[in-house]
Amino acid sequence: MLHLTFDKDFTKKEIWQIFKLAKKLKDKQKKGESHELLRGKSLAMIFQKPSTRTRVSFETAITQLGGHAQYLSVSDLQLGRGETIKDTAKVLSRYVDGIMARVFSHQDIIDLAKNSNVPVINGLSDKFHPCQALTDLFTIWEKRQKLKNLTMVFVGDGDNNVTNSLLLICDILGVELKIACPDKYRTKKEILDLAKRKIEISNNLKTIVKNADVIYTDTWISMGREDEKEREIILTPYQVNQKLVSLAKKDAIVMHCLPAHRNHEITDEIMDGPHSIIFDQAENRLHVQKAILVKLLK
Ligand code: CP
Ligand code: NVA
Repeated sequence: MLHLTFDKDFTKKEIWQIFKLAKKLKDKQKKGESHELLRGKSLAMIFQKPSTRTRVSFETAITQLGGHAQYLSVSDLQLGRGETIKDTAKVLSRYVDGIMARVFSHQDIIDLAKNSNVPVINGLSDKFHPCQALTDLFTIWEKRQKLKNLTMVFVGDGDNNVTNSLLLICDILGVELKIACPDKYRTKKEILDLAKRKIEISNNLKTIVKNADVIYTDTWISMGREDEKEREIILTPYQVNQKLVSLAKKDAIVMHCLPAHRNHEITDEIMDGPHSIIFDQAENRLHVQKAILVKLLK
């Protein structure tokens, strides 16, 4: 059974199949053509944390594919009263054709996948956000018509789910990723060990950003880390602003998985300026997740 628990569940070949299918489905949707490849299929969506993009894009994706989604917040499930993840997976897979889950602990995704008879999709865990990373690389490919010879720079919290997933997908697809982060928030060794290539990580922002094709940032305080107030202070020098972007290539693109904390990790000027492809990136969650759903559920 193929699941998407983290980025390495798909091979390079499978990722390219997903990108090509996403492009095809996006074209069809733009032309108003029907693409009901998952007619009658049901997707359970478990949420332990809030979401705007993941929830709405998955529900819209399966609906436009002819299927149906059920939003299940933990407080509405018996999971909230102590039923185990294992039993939840066993029961849900008797009803639905796929399970998407957003969880605190990545172990919950692993336990869901282990105990489910239908595909499980990670809609974000503390360790990985593979649907986001697939969308991000698809968006770069769409904008640049290539992924070869591009340098992408992640600026900010080097130790979160989005950074980890980008690192793995860039490794699989052969895109050079460099990380500029404070020493305190360096990417963990266990994640670096999952990649084949050596990743350049430094607290020297200027050197890393110089000549970059893509600058990517994410919130300084991920969900579940709200108590770590010192992050705001330690990460302040890593703000993506005009001064920083001017170090990159002239035509560099700026990305953010959203939600953004405007004028913290990224300024208004950059978010709404000519380098930003942030809202196209957000839209592509819909198209790429359609392709993921077709690949796993059809
Ligand atoms: N990028 C992302 O996953 O957004 P949500 O938290 O709104 O789903
Ligand atoms: N790193 C962020 C991503 C949000 C989509 C978080 O986990 O909150």
